[in-house]
Amino acid sequence: MDQLQTIDDQRAWSRAAHMAGKRIGFVPTMGALHEGHISLIAKARAKSDVVVASVFVNPTQFDNPEDFAKYPITLEDDLAKLKAAGVDAVFLPTKEAMFPDGYCTFVELVGPLTDKMCGAARPGHFRGVATVVTKLFNIVQPDVAVFGEKDLQQVLIINRLAKDLDIPVEIIVGDTLREPDGLAMSSRNRRLSPASRQKALDLTKGLELARRAYKQGESTSLKLCEFVYNELLIHEGVEVDYCDVVSLRGFEEKDIADDTCFIAAAAFVDGVRLIDHVHLAGPAIPVAIDE
Ligand code: PAF
Repeated sequence: MDQLQTIDDQRAWSRAAHMAGKRIGFVPTMGALHEGHISLIAKARAKSDVVVASVFVNPTQFDNPEDFAKYPITLEDDLAKLKAAGVDAVFLPTKEAMFPDGYCTFVELVGPLTDKMCGAARPGHFRGVATVVTKLFNIVQPDVAVFGEKDLQQVLIINRLAKDLDIPVEIIVGDTLREPDGLAMSSRNRRLSPASRQKALDLTKGLELARRAYKQGESTSLKLCEFVYNELLIHEGVEVDYCDVVSLRGFEEKDIADDTCFIAAAAFVDGVRLIDHVHLAGPAIPVAIDE
């Protein structure tokens, strides 16, 4: 696996791959890799001839400096996982290379995709994501890029920006991977103590209870969100950041849910921010619920 530290080295690597007629698959990450990331690499591999991953903790997408400072860094472990997953090259830019002194250009989407959920709760977050992903696309020049469905709003935003900015990359979505008990895999899970992890599972449970209630005829969004609040707010140290029912058609918030909708929530569990969602008409989240 080639390790590319500079933008010039990554560009040269990608140019050589394209000259050799190879399609480049790309998986951008912020490290602290888990099986979910590895499944995205497998997806990229299936759609391309060579796979590039990047590891860069992007400072511009953190709305909270403390969250940035606490983001887990596990580079040695990440490199071993990427190598074992058969990645051909890993791009490891420095913050100074990506955002040098005097940097002042940002990519910002406006409208329904960014004005709700994490867009409303974390001002500037998607501006940071859109900017870094646009820069990474310009540097890596991928034919295909894979993003996880867990960050649904993020992947829709990236798909839109690639279209709007005429970036010739196909965006592919990889399934959310879950732990055996149903908790969505996330780099942030490693910051949860065993007690916090138990509380975090109630985010998953609340969403699955809402999905079940919808299937049984409840369509009032406020009532569906109540399942999430009721599961989480019994815990000390848990704060619900948002819970929304949103339609994939137009990305509109809905008072009355229909089959185009998903329910999404974000919560701080003992200071760790977690997000998850479920499609109301989709399959169950495999989480144990006492009947
Ligand atoms: O999903 C992530 O890990 C990040 O938001 C991304 C896409 C790598 C951009 O920094």
